Amino acid sequence: MTTSNENSKEQNSGQPPLRYIHSWHYDMLINQERSQFYRDMIKNHCQDKVVLEIGTGSGLMAALAVKHGAKKIICCEENPLLAMAAQQLFKRLGIEEKVQLIPKNSKAIRSDEIPQVDVILHELFGSDPFGEEVVPTLIDAKRFLKPGGIFLPEKIQLIYKPIEQHTLPEKIFFEDIHLLEMELLLSQVHPGLRGRDLSAEGNKYFSLPEVSMLQLTEAPYTYTENNPALEGVDAVEVSYLIIHQDKKLQAARFNETSARVHWYPLVFFKMDVPSGQLRFSTKDSVKLMVL
Ligand SMILES: C[S@@+](CC[C@H](N)C(=O)[O-])C[C@H]1O[C@@H](n2cnc3c(N)ncnc32)[C@H](O)[C@@H]1O
Repeated sequence: MTTSNENSKEQNSGQPPLRYIHSWHYDMLINQERSQFYRDMIKNHCQDKVVLEIGTGSGLMAALAVKHGAKKIICCEENPLLAMAAQQLFKRLGIEEKVQLIPKNSKAIRSDEIPQVDVILHELFGSDPFGEEVVPTLIDAKRFLKPGGIFLPEKIQLIYKPIEQHTLPEKIFFEDIHLLEMELLLSQVHPGLRGRDLSAEGNKYFSLPEVSMLQLTEAPYTYTENNPALEGVDAVEVSYLIIHQDKKLQAARFNETSARVHWYPLVFFKMDVPSGQLRFSTKDSVKLMVL
């Protein structure tokens, strides 16, 4: 057990304290579709290139970049526990010469600390594609890009599906208190809780136009959607595609009921849009809103 004395010694040692890691890293890393999508992109665009990876996490993408011929890969990871694991991976694979790991947030890297790069590789995406500071991080990271350099992947595309009220498998009661209001909210929020046959519904959705990461670094995201299918619906669930050239990876699936997922559809409630018009936009580029 650590004593308070030891704790204060650690705080004074100048070393960043070790942090927790989220359990979704496991679900993310066993997602073969995600790894294959990134592997194909890396294979096609990183050969002989100097690459900066933002948020290296496990180190998988950096290791793939070396495997597929990157000239050099510089990667950064703000979580010291993950940075340590990635560094150990690079050592075990014998690729330390080709990988420079900077254990800090990309915004804290000085512009003269690393060379200008051909490619910025990023996989910072949470369930909200604008969460996790993706856009502010890429805005800042542009200073590392050589003229003509690229973001990998290059685009995202929001997709959505109108949803109606559904019944939960079980009513929520304690003694004589019926939590009807929570039932109404929860009946829409998690695919596993919805009382309907999701596999029969499939993965059909509506799409907004594609938008490039570069565009997102230049202007706030806003898009007005007119769709008669939105009239009178209770909520919309939103996900997105990660796109590079002709390859697409769907983040959260609308018909996913497995427990082993790390991306979930976002649900926006109580639409009340008689006009069938919805506005998708961001708040300070760090949170998606649907109004
Ligand atoms: C979604 S995870 C992906 C991890 C990695 N690509 C993988 O496959 O294991 C994003 C990672 O980026 C890190 N991160 C987020 N923003 C960062 C930033 N601006 N600079 C450095 N690390 C960052 C997080 O700590 C997290 O480990």
